[in-house]
Amino acid sequence: MTEYRLILVAGARPNFMKIAPLMDALADHPYIRPYLVHTGQHYDEKMSALFFQQLNIPQPDINLEVGSSSHAVQTALIMERFEKVCLNVKPHMVMVVGDVNSTAACTLVAAKLHIPTAHYEAGLRSRDRSMPEEINRLVTDAISDYFFTTSVDADENLINEGISHQRIFMVGNLMIDSLYKHLKIAEAMDHRVETLDRKRIIHLGETFQDKKYGIMTFHRPSNVDQPETLAKLVKTWGAISQEIPLLFPIHPRTVKNLIKFGLFDILASYETIYLTEPMGYLEFIYFIYHAAFALTDSGGIQEETTTLKIPCLTIRPTTERPITLWEGSNKLIRVEDIEKEVHFILQGKGKTGNIPKYWDGQSAGRIVKILEDIFNSSMKRE
Ligand code: UD1
Repeated sequence: MTEYRLILVAGARPNFMKIAPLMDALADHPYIRPYLVHTGQHYDEKMSALFFQQLNIPQPDINLEVGSSSHAVQTALIMERFEKVCLNVKPHMVMVVGDVNSTAACTLVAAKLHIPTAHYEAGLRSRDRSMPEEINRLVTDAISDYFFTTSVDADENLINEGISHQRIFMVGNLMIDSLYKHLKIAEAMDHRVETLDRKRIIHLGETFQDKKYGIMTFHRPSNVDQPETLAKLVKTWGAISQEIPLLFPIHPRTVKNLIKFGLFDILASYETIYLTEPMGYLEFIYFIYHAAFALTDSGGIQEETTTLKIPCLTIRPTTERPITLWEGSNKLIRVEDIEKEVHFILQGKGKTGNIPKYWDGQSAGRIVKILEDIFNSSMKRE
């Protein structure tokens, strides 16, 4: 039987929960054959393999094993290795997700080989070009053929950039497909997570009470790469932890910088900040679901908290996901305002908001249906 070969690209942690529902929806498809390519941008057990295992993603067909390096070197390595894969597999389409280096690098390779490309999470714009992700979004969308979007603002951005509306498909949010599916599984488990200092075990009901702790994640270069900014954050986290315990799974970039700037021991000295290694997906969504609030600079967490109606304080001047501000539970704030905003939440005045259109757990099915239409109408089967 003839088939359409579809390469799906995943590279870094936030890609995995977007790829999982797609791989699931394409399993046993009668004529679309997915090829999963992992670029190896993230490679630690806790940043990659654990997510494949917990999200039930099949082993990648190919791992490019590029690892960490400067942006230029990492992007170039992905391109060099991905080109060989494309020449070998001869896909009918390459699909990328999100806004990481792997997203832009693989789109560039496919476009130059005249392979149709689709971008899931197209059209998001922070309008802050100092963010590497914004450059990746702009590059990817400038040369993609099909655009799958998560929200109406993304559609508008693409139309304003001259993309024909016939190529834009608002499908909702794949990350929320993963969230709804896995929250049930996570809730049925008894989670015990060890802190980094190996002395304490975190358990809901023992260490923390429901809605009586905050969860934090920080990894953006703008927050963690400068010693002054990171020192200011450490001090603020310490102050908040006097009022409510904080759970802090630390990203490898942040750990490295805390150590480099001599701030790690100060952070570890705060009794009620619980530092852990990066958590698995199931542990993380469980602890976010039961938290009083999230304090973050992540993109995906803005969306997950909006869906769970948990107040989210995002320490960034801009967001590429403004729907989480208009409709959801998200608020953009400065470091100086963290304490005030946390007080607000503790007084029960936190934002809860509404769930955006199509963030309903059904996005992967919508995408597969559109892919079938694209393959059947515009491409000839071999
Ligand atoms: C990348 C993405 C960012 C995404 C984030 C999620 C880009 C430009 N950035 O940022 O959009 O929000 O992933 O995590 O694509 N490291 C490890 N183990 C790993 C991976 C990284 O120790 O498995 C360390 C390396 O020292 C590396 C540093 O963390 O230098 C940063 O990793 P990198 O992939 O360059 O960027 P992230 O900050 O993770």
